[in-house]
Amino acid sequence: MPPTDSIESLLKEERRFHPDPTFVRHARVGSHHAYAAMHKQSLDEPEIFWREQTVDLVWRTPWKTFSEWKLPHAKFFVGATLNLTESCLDRHLTTSRRTKAALVWEGEPGDSRTLTYFELHREVVRAAAALTDLGVKAGDRVAIYMGMVPEVVVAMLACARLGAPHSVVFAGFSAEALRDRINDCGAKVLLTQDGAWRRGSVVPLKAMADVALQQTPTVEKVVVLRRIGRGETQVVMKHGRDVWWDDWLSRVGPGPSLDHAKAPPAFDAEHPLFVLYTSGSTGKPKGVLHTTAGYLAGVHVTTKYVFDLRDDDTYWCTADIGWVTGHSYIVYGPLSCGATCVMFEGAPNFPDWGRFWSVIERHGVTVLYTAPTAIRAFIRAGDEWPARYDLSSLRLLGSVGEPINPEAWMWYHRVVGKERCPIVDTWWQTETGSIMLATLPGAVFAKPGSTGLPLFGVEVGVVKDRGEDCSPGEGGKLVVKRPWPSMARTLWKDDDRYLKTYWDVIPNVYFTGDGARRDEDDYLWVVGRIDDVLNVAGHRIGTAEIESALVSHPSVAEAAAVGRPDELKGHALVVFVTVKAGQKAGKELKEALAAHIDKEIGKFARPDSIRFTDALPKTRSGKIMRRLLKDIAAGGETQGDTSTLEDLGVLAKLRATEED
Ligand code: WTA
Repeated sequence: MPPTDSIESLLKEERRFHPDPTFVRHARVGSHHAYAAMHKQSLDEPEIFWREQTVDLVWRTPWKTFSEWKLPHAKFFVGATLNLTESCLDRHLTTSRRTKAALVWEGEPGDSRTLTYFELHREVVRAAAALTDLGVKAGDRVAIYMGMVPEVVVAMLACARLGAPHSVVFAGFSAEALRDRINDCGAKVLLTQDGAWRRGSVVPLKAMADVALQQTPTVEKVVVLRRIGRGETQVVMKHGRDVWWDDWLSRVGPGPSLDHAKAPPAFDAEHPLFVLYTSGSTGKPKGVLHTTAGYLAGVHVTTKYVFDLRDDDTYWCTADIGWVTGHSYIVYGPLSCGATCVMFEGAPNFPDWGRFWSVIERHGVTVLYTAPTAIRAFIRAGDEWPARYDLSSLRLLGSVGEPINPEAWMWYHRVVGKERCPIVDTWWQTETGSIMLATLPGAVFAKPGSTGLPLFGVEVGVVKDRGEDCSPGEGGKLVVKRPWPSMARTLWKDDDRYLKTYWDVIPNVYFTGDGARRDEDDYLWVVGRIDDVLNVAGHRIGTAEIESALVSHPSVAEAAAVGRPDELKGHALVVFVTVKAGQKAGKELKEALAAHIDKEIGKFARPDSIRFTDALPKTRSGKIMRRLLKDIAAGGETQGDTSTLEDLGVLAKLRATEED
């Protein structure tokens, strides 16, 4: 059964999995009652709740008012000042965490590095001083185009220390995608690396950045980390603009200046922390802006409770740093909790399908946070892989990114968790900053496929188009009914789009773009996106982005991209293309279009199937009827009303298009 098609069967899911009594005994929140009391307090008395929950963070000036809310601009912890990195680093240095591992990093080739809190702090302070040396000041944007290396964490924290918002661009994005993101946020500096390891070969990040840099007028300096080494990749350094990472750091001397180490500047609670681009329903990616205090509070509290995190845990989030999960749950959340985080550079199946399990065994991972698409790939690879390794260190499993289908849930539970570890399914978005819904481990039972109950400060609803609540079991739109601390504050330089996309869709609430149902136990079941955004192998991709990339190819007249349920990837990407007069539709053009997508967006967005057609189904007013294309892509009959279709003959022709 395709995972994305499964809401009907999900709702018939009656299995309940109660947390192991041993886990419950030690859990931070040990009962449904305790959860409900905390949740109630977080909504009724937010001042008290958040004051208690954030006392261990470092505030330079305490906040006066918890929130001020006037669309589009929300403020939280009003009046506070802080330097977020003091909560993630400095505060640990006066405790036993000083010598504790903050990052346990493993490279794809098998090299490794551990940074204690002391060492990470030292590196961050040095990098912040070196950024200052390049002329970076509070408010300047710094683009980061790096893979999964410890320096990317150092880079992000160094920016945060200076109050210079970072914009991390996933290393799978192409030069063009990098260029557009740099230009949109107007970055002054780019931090990158010679190349990144990917399944034994090198992704030439600097060479790709060089292409982008031909058209990025705002970038003054480029810092290049040597990850790969001279023999394997060629790097051209532009005189006056480019500097090697080590030379850059050595400019500020062997030790950081006292200023940076002892007294980093304090910023207003609403000072911008980062811009992260994500897909929406138009071709232009959205620059989601997160600010300082609210974001920190959100990731701190959720990391602590959702992962039931302890000082002796070894926590591993397998996400890439280029997506929000990497930001919130590799960097800011865990470090603000003083956790030991494993960070892994490679792919799950390199050199073989045992790699993840081997990482868990060798590092003694206790908490694993990964995605359903990875779990499904592991199922396919076979139980023999996890069986070869000792996974007994694990005590808690997490899932994020898309609905976890019950089969994947059961496998995760049985084969990885040995029926001992609670599974916490976590629903959230780039825009929400931190986890919003979860099956809080130790507190509540899990139902395979349900993402559980709202977390602290979160009030959600499942509503109809005009905002009326749906009845239990009835499908509707998932909304958030009041602002919450870690929510996106706006889209970079585009308040209008922010309002239109999230706050003007349904009166007085935040619209998530997801469809959901709430059952009789109040558990939420998220079905997936109901806008034109797809979830392909854990990557959030806008169909409009794919379409605008395709029509920018000289042979293409029109294109429509839709998702087809896919056992492994959640969605597979199917595109329907009409070619311009005189152009030949065929194998060659298919290859050219695939290469074109690689270039415009990145290889991860390559369509799974390209189908040529003479015409696309349209309404009389000319709107492409994607609903019908979806049915055709899924290989089924077209469902529902076709009376608005202009030319019925189109459907028969479309069905006849060749599937590859
Ligand atoms: C989907 C990733 C069901 C959802 C953190 C959301 C999920 C989009 C879940 C955000 C989950 C994420 N169950 N669906 N546990 N987690 N999603 O911005 O459609 O990359 O709107 O953030 O992923 O994707 P984004």
